[in-house]
Amino acid sequence: MKDLFDKIYRDKGPLGKWASQAEGYFVFPKLEGEISNRMKFQGKDVITWSINDYLGLANHPEVRKVDADAAVQYGSAYPMGARMMSGHTELHEKLQRELAKFVSKEASYLLNFGYQGILSTIDALVSKNDIIVYDVDAHACIIDGVRLHMGKRFTYKHNDIESLEKNLERAVKMAEQTGGGILVISEGVFGMRGEQGRLKEIVALKEKYNFRFLVDDAHGFGTLGKTGAGAGEEQGVQDGIDVYFATFAKSLASTGAFIAADQEIIDYLKYNLRSQMFAKSLQMQLVVGALKRLDMLKNMPELKAKLWENTNALQSGLKEQGFDIGTTQSCVTPVYLKGSIPEAMALVKDLRENYGIFCSIVVYPVIPKGLILLRLIPTATHTLDDIDQTLNAFNAIRTRLENGTYKRMSAALIAAMGE
Ligand SMILES: Cc1ncc(COP(=O)(O)O)c(C=O)c1O
Repeated sequence: MKDLFDKIYRDKGPLGKWASQAEGYFVFPKLEGEISNRMKFQGKDVITWSINDYLGLANHPEVRKVDADAAVQYGSAYPMGARMMSGHTELHEKLQRELAKFVSKEASYLLNFGYQGILSTIDALVSKNDIIVYDVDAHACIIDGVRLHMGKRFTYKHNDIESLEKNLERAVKMAEQTGGGILVISEGVFGMRGEQGRLKEIVALKEKYNFRFLVDDAHGFGTLGKTGAGAGEEQGVQDGIDVYFATFAKSLASTGAFIAADQEIIDYLKYNLRSQMFAKSLQMQLVVGALKRLDMLKNMPELKAKLWENTNALQSGLKEQGFDIGTTQSCVTPVYLKGSIPEAMALVKDLRENYGIFCSIVVYPVIPKGLILLRLIPTATHTLDDIDQTLNAFNAIRTRLENGTYKRMSAALIAAMGE
């Protein structure tokens, strides 16, 4: 019989196998300094484009003060236990009421982490006779939620309404046999490429098919819609979303998340979400911090305005200079270049070391072979000077990519990093 660990000793997994070349630099990099548009990486100043602090709240002095005061008042333990047992407070309820009102739903429920929260929301919403139909490019937390489902599931092609309809037809036939219902899942904004989910068209399909609609709006909440209430507000279909989810980990620059829906659905979920029934409640510091952040999101529209001013300047600057930024419809700004993984590594090293630009890099297998995706996340803290500097750097690295500089550098770089 084999030792359970044999496979681990043999194969570190699709990402882990790159650890010796990549760790500390491309993965698990240590960004230092206060969270902002400029931080330090390996002792050098860099413009940071990899942090989802859209509204610049992470290091806002008012937010820092409320966080610090809450830590003094409550410590980081309070309240202890799961919500149902001993982890429930008046402030948890207050935050839920305010979040629900903000996203125009009857009720909401706090989740201690978005990932586990949405996973167990999916788990609680479906039973084995039900059918899930979801976008093939959905975030890992949705995929893992779907994995818990004992019944049938279908994926539809990314943001492809024709493919969704085809799968809905299959799902309807199957549901007629099983006696179950249908759950459709999309993201409000797809965080890698920045497209909005086609929520309006999906909601319109409710006229034709009987399904319930769950939207993960991690990147839309705080950035889209007139008031910042997200992709549903932006597309005018918030009412057609049956269960709305957003995390505090992006626009609200914190930890925690929530789901919002009709009162009866939230009442059901709060007694059936295993990730909340069997895990510690969101601690008070985070609840008080989220109340403050939500208040700022509601009352300081200038933050979202500044975010969009920066987003528009960055995206139009990139487009004017001939960069391919795909089909983004949000602040998420992907830049697609052509090159191999070793070239991508040399390019990113050049960007960081010689141009002081720190952004995320995505390569195969997340995107097709031969493509390099540099993902930029503008925030309200960036300046036009940051954008100019970044555009100049991108022009320089494109020239070097095209003239083969990175191809030549990459062999030496890989050898050196492997040592
Ligand atoms: C689309 C999406 N859904 C859910 C999550 C998980 O949220 P959390 O960080 O609160 O666990 C993330 C990442 O933060 C995300 O990008």
